[in-house]
Amino acid sequence: MEIRTAGGTRARVGAPSGASTGATEARAFPEGGVPEAIRAFHERVEPRLVGADIADRAGIDARLHDADGTEGFSRIGGNVATAASLASAEALAKETGRALWQVLARPGVDGRSFPAIVGNCLNGGRHAIGGPEFQEFLAVSDAPRPEDSIRVALRVHALVGEELKRRLPKQALGRGDEGGWVAPLGNVDALEVLVGACDKARDELSVPVRPGLDLAASEFYRDGKYRYRDQTLDEDGQVGFVTKLAERYGIAYLEDPFDETSYGAFARLTASIGSRVQIVGDDIFTTHRDRLARGIELRATNSILIKVNQVGTLTDTLATVDLARGSGLRTVSSHRSGDLPEGWLAHVAVGTGAWGIKCGLLGGERVAKLNELLRLGRAAR
Ligand code: PGA
Ligand code: ZN
Repeated sequence: MEIRTAGGTRARVGAPSGASTGATEARAFPEGGVPEAIRAFHERVEPRLVGADIADRAGIDARLHDADGTEGFSRIGGNVATAASLASAEALAKETGRALWQVLARPGVDGRSFPAIVGNCLNGGRHAIGGPEFQEFLAVSDAPRPEDSIRVALRVHALVGEELKRRLPKQALGRGDEGGWVAPLGNVDALEVLVGACDKARDELSVPVRPGLDLAASEFYRDGKYRYRDQTLDEDGQVGFVTKLAERYGIAYLEDPFDETSYGAFARLTASIGSRVQIVGDDIFTTHRDRLARGIELRATNSILIKVNQVGTLTDTLATVDLARGSGLRTVSSHRSGDLPEGWLAHVAVGTGAWGIKCGLLGGERVAKLNELLRLGRAAR
């Protein structure tokens, strides 16, 4: 979407969309799909934005809610709302000679600390048919300088590829939606490949890196059970399975280990291993402030994934971020499986003081975010 100001400033921003969407997130497009989203933009959004003051961030986002009129942007689509919200923030940044992260900056954020990289190395679940049920096998590096954390995560990605070729010499290896490898492996075998690659990369480069997982467990949870190809687990079984994996493999980061409705299971895991492992809620919160408030009350997680297009505006996103920060939770700014070659995610991560940025490591739409983070790192020195 392109926004043009009276002063002639132009800002163009696109919105991503996901494949393994949370049940409570904004629908990317209205019922009639993209043509309907475009029609809704011209009929409902454009007339309300023309003449608006781009400096009034909350006012612009309120106009988007007004243009839609439903809870989850089902009339104009979360994509239109997200793109409009971001493009107007970008226009404000340009017009006032600031970077986008400065427009978004939370109190105390000075743009000098950088998020850990949570980089996608191997895909499963909805992002890689025929792969493991767990959706993402991640390299997590919290080196202070983005160039170091990116370098070690990329090395893990390469080493995972080498090990897969060694284990599966006759298999054509492809990459999944988020740039991670796809291979016909079970969850534990895939995790072992990741852990081996992390150990090796850490030794080679002397940069910290540890394994992480996004299970996206709602995707294989049916009728009260976690259904794997080789086992079916009830909630107790899943808590035990995940705890065992975390302890045995030194997992640093566990996202969506349970179904999106299972606040109780999240809370049990956080109580038992949350002091050592980041327990991250994605589909359980879908970046909604009220859902996070419930999670905080129940001590469900110690971290939250932040995706602007799950709620559709920056104002809503920042309200959730502020609640998380005020409650001592870490935030992780995340890409989507369907994403664009744009770098604004790096600004969201830096501006919101995110603990981490979750992104892919290969492919133009992933590299764009890493490159922007590198530029922000350079600019801060
Ligand atoms: P999605 O996956 O973009 O397909 O929703 C990303 C995630 O689950 O973190
Ligand atoms: Zn997720």
